Amino acid sequence: MSVYTASTTAPVNIATLKYWGKRDKTLNLPTNSSISVTLAQDDLRTLTSVATSKSFSEDQLWLNGKLESLESERTQHCLQDLRNLRAKLESGDSSLPPMSTWKLHIVSENNFPTAAGLASSAAGFAALVVAIAKLYQLPESASEISKIARKGSGSACRSVFGGYVAWEMGSEADGSDSKAVEVAPQSHWPEMKAAILVVSAAKKDTPSTSGMQHTVTTSDLFQQRIHNVVPQRFEEMKKSIQDRDFDLFAELTMRDSNSFHATCLDSYPPIFYMNDTSRQIVKLCHQINEFFNKTIVAYTFDAGPNAVLYYLQENETKLMAFIHQVFQRNSGWESKFSKQDL
Ligand code: PMV
Repeated sequence: MSVYTASTTAPVNIATLKYWGKRDKTLNLPTNSSISVTLAQDDLRTLTSVATSKSFSEDQLWLNGKLESLESERTQHCLQDLRNLRAKLESGDSSLPPMSTWKLHIVSENNFPTAAGLASSAAGFAALVVAIAKLYQLPESASEISKIARKGSGSACRSVFGGYVAWEMGSEADGSDSKAVEVAPQSHWPEMKAAILVVSAAKKDTPSTSGMQHTVTTSDLFQQRIHNVVPQRFEEMKKSIQDRDFDLFAELTMRDSNSFHATCLDSYPPIFYMNDTSRQIVKLCHQINEFFNKTIVAYTFDAGPNAVLYYLQENETKLMAFIHQVFQRNSGWESKFSKQDL
């Protein structure tokens, strides 16, 4: 009995202009457009392999070596969409094996520890959807496929691409125009680097979906953010990437992280994702930029206390030397940077 297989990797993406708020919970339609910078494939990624055969009796998923349930509504939504597209293809070409009716075996592995405190769902859903699309030989473009990944986890649509990616919120009620598009490939600005400062590896206390809904329904500041701030920032950030203008990119990134966390704080009761250490990192980054009289680093925080820092390769040594001075008593530091590097 033939077994058909396909594999793919999808990178972790970190938003520099945050998605926060859903206008449709089932379809994961956002209340604002967002932008992310994808961490390099070799760094942090999910590797997913899929197989299908007439002989398989049930859909199965192994995640990091453990058998997991595929029952969640989000996962089912993605599988159904992919099977529908495959069925369409099969109906036009009778020589194709009828995979749309066969069960799938999926093996997925992250190359980063769960303890890194990173949301793995984005890379996970993107890899799952892209691997099956490949197996089914779907002719749809990456942007079309991103709409399916979006239904798994909103931010997953951005992990279908590498490099600099925009998620256009769209306006259609059925989500047909809410998709990821490439702003620029990674090679356009390869000097851009990211570092993750793990403040806490604990699971976040308010999951993003419930956090978003709470903000949408209780924060006044949220309306100001989505109507008067983000639309212009979206255009400016895309331009800063196209122009490779780090100064502007960094300022917009930091402002947007602050704006998103401000709407969380403005929710009632408030949501706190950042902690004292996170705030110390914010202050430190501003001090570093002042010290060098130039913007060399930008911070951004997702729905948790960990920081992602963006900087240009040329500034890595002095940036890390500076951070090392402040956090050297914490564990996890290599000794390759020192005061002399400042
Ligand atoms: O896609 P979700 O439901 O994991 O939400 C992601 C929310 C943020 O990470 C805070 C922002 C973003 O745009 O990725």
